[in-house]
Amino acid sequence: MLTGAGVSQESGVPTFRGEEGLWRQYRAEELATWQAFETDPRLVWSWYDYRRQLVSDSEPNAAHLAIADLERGFDGFTLITQNTDGLHERAGSEAIVELHGNIWRARCTREPCACYQTVCELTENPLSEIPPLCAECGALLRPDVVWYGEPLPMDAYERSHVVASSCEAMLVVGTSAVVHPAASLPLVAKHAGAFVVEVNTAYTPISALVDATLLGRAGDVMPEVASRVLEARGEAERASADPVSNSAPA
Ligand code: OAD
Repeated sequence: MLTGAGVSQESGVPTFRGEEGLWRQYRAEELATWQAFETDPRLVWSWYDYRRQLVSDSEPNAAHLAIADLERGFDGFTLITQNTDGLHERAGSEAIVELHGNIWRARCTREPCACYQTVCELTENPLSEIPPLCAECGALLRPDVVWYGEPLPMDAYERSHVVASSCEAMLVVGTSAVVHPAASLPLVAKHAGAFVVEVNTAYTPISALVDATLLGRAGDVMPEVASRVLEARGEAERASADPVSNSAPA
């Protein structure tokens, strides 16, 4: 499973692209960079503080809950997400690979320093101090997220690649599939022989390459998908547990 901002849209968290801009007159691309942080850490942290408040006022929606249901129904299920909002976790998902980090964590920026890059939980909301400072050394903290021009966390990237190249099926939900390397994962899966289905309110650059596109809101489509997939799995398990009654008459 690969998810993007469209999954959280029905929780009231704006997507990055599309008609509804994420924040006032600023574009995410202009704030989510190391250069922006170096120039004006207060502005960048104000943006994250705003998003953190928005997310904490939101609840996981039917799509998040259906995805957590799917995980409970399948051994080896992995959720690769580009979302940093933590809503999947709040919905009960556990096997999560966070490709772009998490806005509820931060890390120290002082180099060289024993705590440089040390990740800490940052749950205070709203932040009492902007920008927040490292409890160990007093240096600036930065959000533990991936900014434009930065590489993905190596372990998350490697894990997502292993999952994509070895899965039997991949659902791709609520992503515009334009930000790489995440956008390549459905194609890696497809190339390795997986059945790939995307769920989106609009066609995307990968629509022509995947096996099917289910057009609709994730909160409407995913509960139906999860219930049908889990039902089919239950039937298959019952059939394999009772081969006699299910075998064809001689
Ligand atoms: P985008 O904002 O690029 O795309 C959101 C996608 O969700 C679009 O394709 C919409 O059509 C679709 N969508 C919107 N509402 C939906 C709904 N209710 N149900 C289903 N689909 C819906 O978000 P991402 O693809 O996640 O990166 O963006 C990828 C990355 O770009 C983000 O992780 C972020 C951003 O810059 C970083 O911060 C590094």
